[in-house]
Amino acid sequence: MSQEFNHITVMLQEAVDALITDPDGFYIDGTFGRGGHSSLILSKLSQKGRLLAIDKDLDAIAEAQRRFVNDERFLIKHGSFSEIEQFVAEQEMVGQVTGVLLDLGVSSPQLDDPSRGFSFQSDGPLDMRMNTTVGESAADWLNRAAEAEIADVLFHYGEERFARRMAKAIVEARQKAPILTTARLANIVSEANPRWEKGKNPATRAFQGIRIHINRELEEIEACLDQTLDVLAHQGRMVVISFHSLEDRIVKRFIRRHVKGDEHLPSGIPFTQAMLNQRLKSKGKAIKASEEEVKLNPRSRSAVMRVAEKC
Ligand SMILES: C[S@@+](CC[C@H](N)C(=O)[O-])C[C@H]1O[C@@H](n2cnc3c(N)ncnc32)[C@H](O)[C@@H]1O
Repeated sequence: MSQEFNHITVMLQEAVDALITDPDGFYIDGTFGRGGHSSLILSKLSQKGRLLAIDKDLDAIAEAQRRFVNDERFLIKHGSFSEIEQFVAEQEMVGQVTGVLLDLGVSSPQLDDPSRGFSFQSDGPLDMRMNTTVGESAADWLNRAAEAEIADVLFHYGEERFARRMAKAIVEARQKAPILTTARLANIVSEANPRWEKGKNPATRAFQGIRIHINRELEEIEACLDQTLDVLAHQGRMVVISFHSLEDRIVKRFIRRHVKGDEHLPSGIPFTQAMLNQRLKSKGKAIKASEEEVKLNPRSRSAVMRVAEKC
């Protein structure tokens, strides 16, 4: 286990303050990571309160077991937050959850540990799976996918404007020898990048795109948000911290859709509020990390937190 890699929790106080409305409640931390949010949540709960935490990453699970094994209010599940409804059903708590927190994306230990294969800055096996027990590694996918599919991933998930050139370079390179390491991939995409953005590694966007694809990150957020609405109690809260616009767009649109309710009622017919089926209330605007936090932890610069409450 990668003990030496730490994670600084982003928007710790703000997220936990927004989440907890009842110290006796049942809460879910869908992205345990290194337990920064979980730890503060537990400190705010009474002896009756409970916290179910989820993470895809086995190192995160080991950390949860190590730190909270003696706390009877705490339970950790290895798996995806897109299985949230099943995890809650196992606890017979569907419709009774007080709050769900999601702190999206990768943790610092995942990024910093070269053996996980997320980093373009140090060499390691090209894996990039948060859950190393299932699915295809980045190397397996990159060495078999069609050029057009690779280009689509780099373009849509990496927002990389040189996606086509990079995909072509990847396919040419793998014909010489399979691409198995992060350093080789970083070299290939950097060389195919004709205009490096100031202050940004030329491989940043390609790595982001591949990571999102390999972990099905956006699909899993969509699935989790839908299920979260079902598991929450009346006035239960969802608190979501996103780190890039692709994630935040999904969260923003989801909240907006359920705040508005059903838009497809027949026109000209009077309808009641209940017929709109509004399922969420937005709690304030999107919140960014404070200047002070950004100074201490530059990773928090891109964080956006949204909070909504079930009607
Ligand atoms: C930004 S970190 C969370 C950090 C945590 N809040 C803390 O304070 O330590 C994101 C974590 O979510 C996990 N994760 C990302 N997507 C996931 C998913 N679909 N299901 C479960 N865990 C996921 C990652 O493995 C990572 O450990």
